[in-house]
Amino acid sequence: MAPNDTSFSAAPPTPETDPERLERAILSRLLSWQTMRGEVTFPCIPALADRYTQQVQGLARTLGQPFDAAALERLRTLVAQRLEEGYAASPYSQLLVRYQTVPGPEPQLSWKVETVVVSSEQQARHFLRYRPPEVHDRYPDAKVEAIAATLGDPENAPILDVGAGPGRNAIALARRGHPVVAIEPNGAMAQQLRTMVERSGQTVQILERNILDGEFDLARDRYGAILLTGVVPYFDQVDQLRLLFQKLAPALRPGGLLLFDAFVGVEGWVPTRLVREWGRVTDAYPLAMSELAAAIAGLPLVLVSDEDALAYEREHLSPEARQARPWFDRWASASRLFQLPGDRVPPVSLRWRVYERSSQS
Ligand SMILES: C[S@@+](CC[C@H](N)C(=O)[O-])C[C@H]1O[C@@H](n2cnc3c(N)ncnc32)[C@H](O)[C@@H]1O
Repeated sequence: MAPNDTSFSAAPPTPETDPERLERAILSRLLSWQTMRGEVTFPCIPALADRYTQQVQGLARTLGQPFDAAALERLRTLVAQRLEEGYAASPYSQLLVRYQTVPGPEPQLSWKVETVVVSSEQQARHFLRYRPPEVHDRYPDAKVEAIAATLGDPENAPILDVGAGPGRNAIALARRGHPVVAIEPNGAMAQQLRTMVERSGQTVQILERNILDGEFDLARDRYGAILLTGVVPYFDQVDQLRLLFQKLAPALRPGGLLLFDAFVGVEGWVPTRLVREWGRVTDAYPLAMSELAAAIAGLPLVLVSDEDALAYEREHLSPEARQARPWFDRWASASRLFQLPGDRVPPVSLRWRVYERSSQS
């Protein structure tokens, strides 16, 4: 070997002994030894597309693989699209975001964004398991009883209970002696209603129909009272609400009473898109005062009373009934819609509204 040949004289690579660098080297490889898999669900609220996307990005960051700008934009578009689809199919739909590692030398996370449609019937089954009517729904609304008491001889004052649910009001009214027709479109609820009526030993005519069904007609001038308790907050379109009132008004006899509860905003308050979507998803859809007025304007219905439903029921329900329906205060205080600090109240309140059918039809 020539003395000036340096090809073999370079110093051999230095062994790395720095503990921190060695550990960093291990950690950089660790991802390929890990398996990550998981899922997150979100209620399908289209107004929250950006927020959900950011939450998913936060998760991806935590997992060590954040989305780059282009992938994040694709994710946002997909999330928005799936939310719209889910919300249109059913307000109880869920957005399901799943991730898992794809094995390989360069470990990667793969993401899937899907819509899981939860039907009203599935939702009702879940609800009935969580809140069995035998326990919580034995008592009618105090306002319903008060209205019934004004109708004179019960046998001559038939009552239509629209959206009767498990039937707490329908059964109580039948017990008072009224002929009662209960309408309930949800199969799971209607089944529960049949069971509850059977157990009560009362007679209630049950119709498993959607009140807005164009092929379903109501007898004219028939009812002494029509009830819509807890039903108006299911309506998120003013034109549908108007159709509802248009259909019910002629079914009342002149002088007959329409009773409903609705979350109505304070003067001038208009719900934002998020509030509306959230209201629909939670079955607590809030109406601007002007929207409720528009739904009723020009119909042969004259306002008789407009009261705060929570205050009314607190004052008139027996202590036993109040204790048996703790859900009512939560529902009626609109805390399902807005959880506000103690010194604030929501811009809506649950109102008991009573209208009388005028003789003009
Ligand atoms: C919160 S529950 C109230 C049940 C009962 N009225 C009560 O106060 O206990 C609302 C009910 O309205 C029914 N509903 C919703 N939309 C309806 C429609 N278009 N026609 C008839 N009922 C409807 C639902 O299926 C549900 O059972």
